[in-house]
Amino acid sequence: MSWMNHDKLEKNSLLLLGFIIVVVLIGGIIEIIPLFRQETVIEPVQGVRPYTPLELAGYNIYIREGCYNCHSQQIRPLRDEVVRYGHYSLAAESMYDHPFQWGSKRTGPDLARVGGKYSDEWHVAHMIEPRDLVPESIMPSYSFLMHKGAKLHDLPEHLKALRAVGVPYTDDMIKMAAKDAAVQATGEARTDTGGLIERYGDKVIARDFDGQPGIVSEMDALIAYLQVLGTMVDFEAAKDVDEGVL
Ligand code: HEC
Repeated sequence: MSWMNHDKLEKNSLLLLGFIIVVVLIGGIIEIIPLFRQETVIEPVQGVRPYTPLELAGYNIYIREGCYNCHSQQIRPLRDEVVRYGHYSLAAESMYDHPFQWGSKRTGPDLARVGGKYSDEWHVAHMIEPRDLVPESIMPSYSFLMHKGAKLHDLPEHLKALRAVGVPYTDDMIKMAAKDAAVQATGEARTDTGGLIERYGDKVIARDFDGQPGIVSEMDALIAYLQVLGTMVDFEAAKDVDEGVL
């Protein structure tokens, strides 16, 4: 019987290595192959849309500043997490994140549903000096974001790159990216018919996020991003439709 020859395998390291490779390969193939057909693995969910250019600029700042080192964006389906943060994260909610920001460390709280939890003013004050609002906070100050203009001119390139990996940005969205970002941060969007709202939907939050009307700062971009996190799917409405999925 085969198990009787097991000592041969254990005494011959090269043979053992060969078998280890075979086993790891089989496991790897089973895990990796489905990811090539991701569109069939992730269940699309109503409401999830690609980020607006301003939100995307904020997402890029989030990555640049390494916020993911302290914050996760993944609420697990465990009672304590759901009670604290809200509905557990769905795969579709991060389907347009490249790279995803699930994170693996929570020095600070999970941010997957931080959108709408606080006012813009709260975020501005918190980013400038976290300890003004949470005395025991160890989060660094990001006050410089207030004075730094957000980089808007290269947004079309970012949208193009994301389209190359499957995010459904249209030619129009790419062409108008810089303008759409500026419009969203000044709150002109409601009067800008045929613009931002038409491209991204009327749930888009457009206003002067950082309270400085004269400038589209990196703070505008970052807060636009934070305020949309976890808000795209309307879980209240979805609950009646399909209890099983959500
Ligand atoms: C060194 C770790 C660390 C880094 C880096 C960090 N944070 Fe935090 N963050 C915290 C901690 C701890 C808290 C909880 C205390 C507080 O609210 O300040 C927090 C709280 C927050 C909150 C409030 C969350 C809530 O639900 O109350 C937001 C929003 C936030 N951080 C955003 C950011 C962003 C955006 C960045 C990157 C620009 C960032 N953080 C970088 C540690 C960090």
